[in-house]
Amino acid sequence: MIVRFMTCASLFLTCLSLGESAKILGVFSTPAKSHLIIHMSVMRALVEQGHDVTVFTTLPLEDKVKKYRHIQVGLPNMLSKEKMVEMAKEKVEKPKNFLFEYQDILPKMLFVSNYTINSMEFKSLLNESFDLVVLGYFLNDFQLGIAAHFKCPVVVNFMIQPFTQLLDMSGTPKEISYVPNLFTGLQQPMGFTDRLYNFVYSGILEPVVYKWGEWQQEKMYRYNFPESKYPSLSEVKKNVSLVLINHHFSQGGLRPLPPGMVEIGGIQIKEKPNPLPEDIKEFLDESKNGVVYFSFGSHVASGSLRPEITKAMFNVLSKIPFNVLWKWDDSAPVPGTSDNIMYKPWTPQDDVLAHPNVKLFISHGGQGGVVEAEYHGVPLLICSFFGDQHANKDLVIKKEFGRGFPFKTLTEEIFRKEVLEILENPKYSENIKKFSSVYRDRPMTAKQTAVFWIEYVIRHKGAFHMQSPLVHLNFFQQHSLDVLGFLAVSLIVLLKVCCVFICFIKRKLSSGNKLKVL
Ligand SMILES: *[C@@H]1O[C@H](CO)[C@@H](O)[C@H](O)[C@H]1NC(C)=O
Ligand SMILES: *[C@@H]1O[C@H](CO)[C@@H](O)[C@H](O)[C@H]1NC(C)=O
Ligand SMILES: *[C@@H]1O[C@H](CO)[C@@H](O)[C@H](O)[C@H]1NC(C)=O
Repeated sequence: MIVRFMTCASLFLTCLSLGESAKILGVFSTPAKSHLIIHMSVMRALVEQGHDVTVFTTLPLEDKVKKYRHIQVGLPNMLSKEKMVEMAKEKVEKPKNFLFEYQDILPKMLFVSNYTINSMEFKSLLNESFDLVVLGYFLNDFQLGIAAHFKCPVVVNFMIQPFTQLLDMSGTPKEISYVPNLFTGLQQPMGFTDRLYNFVYSGILEPVVYKWGEWQQEKMYRYNFPESKYPSLSEVKKNVSLVLINHHFSQGGLRPLPPGMVEIGGIQIKEKPNPLPEDIKEFLDESKNGVVYFSFGSHVASGSLRPEITKAMFNVLSKIPFNVLWKWDDSAPVPGTSDNIMYKPWTPQDDVLAHPNVKLFISHGGQGGVVEAEYHGVPLLICSFFGDQHANKDLVIKKEFGRGFPFKTLTEEIFRKEVLEILENPKYSENIKKFSSVYRDRPMTAKQTAVFWIEYVIRHKGAFHMQSPLVHLNFFQQHSLDVLGFLAVSLIVLLKVCCVFICFIKRKLSSGNKLKVL
């Protein structure tokens, strides 16, 4: 009897947990591999929980067995592989501050995000219903309309520390007096000149440029989500349930977070590395002195680098008593061959960095790679090119997790000196290993955190009780300018009344005196 009851109960429980499986749509139209890795880490965690997941991407996905539905739409010619190499070349040669880069990137991102949601593949989804949308964010605010279409909650997922747009969506205070803007490259604590720069950048320059951006988003939103059927973009932006950021406070840049912004830093890192491809494994295992791992990531194509400089790097690396695993894609011929160097067009970076023989990571300073190196305790040598890479490099240098080098003015001597400094001075490796243990020390893993809060949003129908009230205040209200204005006006009125009253008394008194004199 008891046994039967137990079976019934467990059956009931199974049904219950199956019933909780939600239908989730992930929209990731940015054609950037490093972004997709982060987004897919979240989606795969949801798949493992038994949710019914559909992902929409512009890039292919490499899982051998896909336990989710994948819809891929091809990219327009404007964003073909060759065009991307050309764009990267320009950025490598003429680095710009993000605010200038933004003016080039935004139209491209708007174009591709609009192109993808107008595809037949995407349109065919519109008649379905979903319990939640996960939107991969990269200057595609207008795509929040997708959640408005399905009338379901939306979770925004982001690859690094939050952009200003995400602070606004989640109602996170900007605190520009002590939180440096990501693109100023400033670090905490900030002295007076740093705070001055941060104030001018975040308080004056950025709002002007981003106003222009908002206007562009608005146009794209109205094209795709007409007024007759959908709420306005500003309403939709106030309806974001949760923003997930791939950052952890231990990495620095401390700021107060509202409950609706949650850190899932390092979600792309596997707790247990996957087995390496046989040839790479053999190469790493047999490197008794250790290995230097060299990768400039997926955006900086090998063909966008000046050959004299890669040759100089080759001359140094081919002569050190270490093996070198160099990620080199097929957009240019290799700079030279040597017994100690293995070139690979693609490397499983996280698994390579987890290998105990890897002693140095030469990187472009992308957040993904830097975090993986920090997690596995591998010191870094960084040459940054664009976006947040400069700030990542500066932080690595400041914390002595490694060093940096310039690209355009690089010589053999500089490069040799930097490489040997890290390989021979143990302090970099010791510092980053110490950090690694701090970074891993958390109550829940990044995956568990992401899954918990996403399911929380689904369970509580958007969980708007945890939304920061700041989202609903305008600029004047956010900074209490309306209150200050009211107080100022009240004070003036009060002073005026006092003045009038005093004048009145004075007049009364003096007329009284006059009467007495009379
Ligand atoms: C968005 O994409 C569609 C289809 O590709 C195109 O017809 C339309 O002009 C685009 N909208 C804007 C505002 O660029
Ligand atoms: C979606 O449904 C509408 C009305 O129910 C129909 O007109 C339209 O053809 C459907 N679209 C697709 C792609 O199935
Ligand atoms: C806001 O989100 C809820 C669900 O989370 C949805 O039902 C509602 O339609 C959305 N409202 C707007 C204005 O987008």
